[in-house]
Amino acid sequence: MRLNATFGGVSVQAISWTASGAVRVLDQRALPEAQIERDLESAEAVADAIRHLEVRGAPLIGIAAAMGLVAGTRELRGGAREAFLARLARLVDILGAARPTAVNLRWALDRMARVATSTAGDGSAIWERLHAEATAIWEEDRAMCRRIGEHGLTVLNDGANILTHCNTGALATGGIGTALAPIYLAHEQGRRVHVFVDETRPLLQGSRLTAWELLHAGISCTLITDAAAATLMRQAKVDVVLVGADRICANGDFANKIGTYGLAVLARHHGVPFYCAAPWSTVDATLADGDLIPIEQRPPAEVTSLAGRPTAPAGVAALNPAFDVTPARYVTGFITDRGIVQPPFGS
Ligand code: MRU
Repeated sequence: MRLNATFGGVSVQAISWTASGAVRVLDQRALPEAQIERDLESAEAVADAIRHLEVRGAPLIGIAAAMGLVAGTRELRGGAREAFLARLARLVDILGAARPTAVNLRWALDRMARVATSTAGDGSAIWERLHAEATAIWEEDRAMCRRIGEHGLTVLNDGANILTHCNTGALATGGIGTALAPIYLAHEQGRRVHVFVDETRPLLQGSRLTAWELLHAGISCTLITDAAAATLMRQAKVDVVLVGADRICANGDFANKIGTYGLAVLARHHGVPFYCAAPWSTVDATLADGDLIPIEQRPPAEVTSLAGRPTAPAGVAALNPAFDVTPARYVTGFITDRGIVQPPFGS
């Protein structure tokens, strides 16, 4: 089954089911050079793909994990309820440990686990129900993206110059994205929009993925180094900043790709509106503020090398936090599937 995100005559298929219930992903490590699809036959393979950023972006990680539970329990379909639920609990732990920051991962796994335990019957009945639930999580995300896009349209005037960070589009979600969704819809409606794309060091999700998506959709964009954002704002070339989120706390502090906090401070300094776009599945109302968000620390080698070649002297120490926390006070508004809202957030 395939749910295409189609825009500008181009369809991006970040994830889909195979006929046998495995998870087919577009390997995002290979983009933009090659479009390679991989079939992940087990939950462990899905966890590895999440850990290695073959599949990435907060909403897509949640969808992939839900589908991974289905792929990983196929063999237990004929078995007893207790054995099925015990294996499922183990797989929930494995997938839940793949990456720590995006709450969508835990949200999707908890939802799947609840559905499993509340479904009567043997392994086969539970598996069928899980397959339907994973598909529902995916379809709901697609619908949420669309609604985020519709609400976000109100902040994009004709001729708007938007600055964005990391990748928040069809490659990061089950639909047309979060922060990119209003841009896709504005373009679809014939509004002239132009996007400055931060390359997003160190793994270049902006240049490898966002620029690729926007070009394919025929949307005008310009790639910049992350460090160029300040100059562009000083030159009044940016009308609005749109970013995504991996976790939004009850008070509105949120985690997103490293570099987001700096953009928020710059935007405030230069009087540029700064919006965070995310589905409600990214809100973690159990965390009071951003200091409580677990921040993923990735291997230093991602900072000291590029495409397998050293870019720093051997032995130098390097820090590689994958995300930072932006305090709520810098956010003009949160563009969600429920509208453009302000904290505090409940469930
Ligand atoms: O490390 P990544 O590529 O998974 O980080 C992704 C981001 O930070 C995105 O901005 C966020 O997940 C929102 S995606 C709609």
